[in-house]
Amino acid sequence: NGHVYKYYSQGEWKNSSSGKSVDIVNPTTRKNQYKVQACTQDEVNEVLESAKSAQKVWAKTPLWKRAEMLHKVAAILKENKDPIAECLVKEVAKPAKDAVTEVVRSGDLLSYTAEEGVRVLAEGTFLTSDSFPGNERSKYCMVSKIPLGVVLAIPPFNYPVNLAVSKMGPALIAGNALVLKPPTQGAIAALHMVHCFHLAGFPKGLISCITGKGSEIGDFLTTHPAVNCISFTGGDTGIEISKKAGMIPLQMELGGKDACIVLEDADLDLVASNIVKGGFSYSGQRCTAVKVVLVMESVADALVKKVNAMVSKLKVGNPEDDCDITPVVSETSANFIEELTMDAKQKGATLCQEYKREGNLIWPLLLDNVKPDMRIAWEEPFGPVLPVIRIKSAEEGIRHCNGSIYGLQGCVFTRDINKAILISDAMETGTVQINSAPARGPDHFPFQGLRDSGIGSQGITNTISMMTKNKSIVVNLP
Ligand code: G3P
Repeated sequence: NGHVYKYYSQGEWKNSSSGKSVDIVNPTTRKNQYKVQACTQDEVNEVLESAKSAQKVWAKTPLWKRAEMLHKVAAILKENKDPIAECLVKEVAKPAKDAVTEVVRSGDLLSYTAEEGVRVLAEGTFLTSDSFPGNERSKYCMVSKIPLGVVLAIPPFNYPVNLAVSKMGPALIAGNALVLKPPTQGAIAALHMVHCFHLAGFPKGLISCITGKGSEIGDFLTTHPAVNCISFTGGDTGIEISKKAGMIPLQMELGGKDACIVLEDADLDLVASNIVKGGFSYSGQRCTAVKVVLVMESVADALVKKVNAMVSKLKVGNPEDDCDITPVVSETSANFIEELTMDAKQKGATLCQEYKREGNLIWPLLLDNVKPDMRIAWEEPFGPVLPVIRIKSAEEGIRHCNGSIYGLQGCVFTRDINKAILISDAMETGTVQINSAPARGPDHFPFQGLRDSGIGSQGITNTISMMTKNKSIVVNLP
């Protein structure tokens, strides 16, 4: 149908003056499902102008009131979980149950952010001068946390709601204004979520949501002088953004190639269930998905057998039917997954299941006997295809993990806690999970990637402090 969803600016829902729209394709039907406004650069200017002035007032609004607003929006969001989840199902083919979970998790995240904010933002530091050589006790330094100004949030398609609020909540509690540029696939869910903020009654202009083509407004937004901080989650675009962005704090979470190292003494049933959950949930479209299994040769056959048994039970089909494996986000993505799979096949990998694809739907596939010369050993398919590399020593596994351009998370399975800690220490990633698959949550845990996986650290507390700056007032005594 011809309906074009409006964008959100100055507390109102508006049509773009461009008269143009962007189509959102349903990954399952591969037909156009929704349309959003193709906003112009002038509209970006307008949004940022009002964000700047609204922020000044917001920063002076008492912290407890800002927290109250976030609690309110958290409740509204949870009340509206079903219609928002429905958009996630249609736009990004997220399985129905997971879509609801994403919205509920987002409500919880906002409440937690409100509670954490009233505590950490109320605290500052007090210093006296006489600890530094040559000084008397004549200077008192009071340090508090002040907002940065306008925060630009750019979340990815895989969590258009959750990875938007994980940036919005901290930005707002800290006294910043927020401009959201949602991913095109996921924009409608994001607009519905923004409507919850609208209903909660946030001041006009403080929050806005701008939609459109990256090619027209992407660079314009990310290099705009009125933007004081960018929080981005997504792919390689993040590298481009960080090269072009000005002298402002950046929070980036890009890809991952999370390794799962399995030692001989591991509980193989536990490993298998974590590999299936970690590798195949949301069809592998998570930056924290298990993306390469590095298993000791002696237990490899047994493990592969267990994983295959579980893979055969995965339900493949439509997100509406709450299947485990659903169509990947786009045809381009499906083609890329296929390309990596065929490269591995040609170079001699063992396909544990038959390779099967219908449209954007790719059946789950375990690739055994993968070797380092295969692209899938290093590249991120972002799909339900998981490589297994057989290793002769833990060191070989660690070397593979550290040889990656990514360094998001990793995991190690063993019953020997000393080995687990030594290996965790040696793995050069932002987080290592012992005896569980990688995951970002719970959402107050620090979350960070090394190398091309990102800049800075996320998690509720870290994001709040990243979106503030220290301000010192020094009292000079006579
Ligand atoms: O892919 C986004 C990343 O943040 C993953 O989150 O919760 O699936 O571990 P999660």
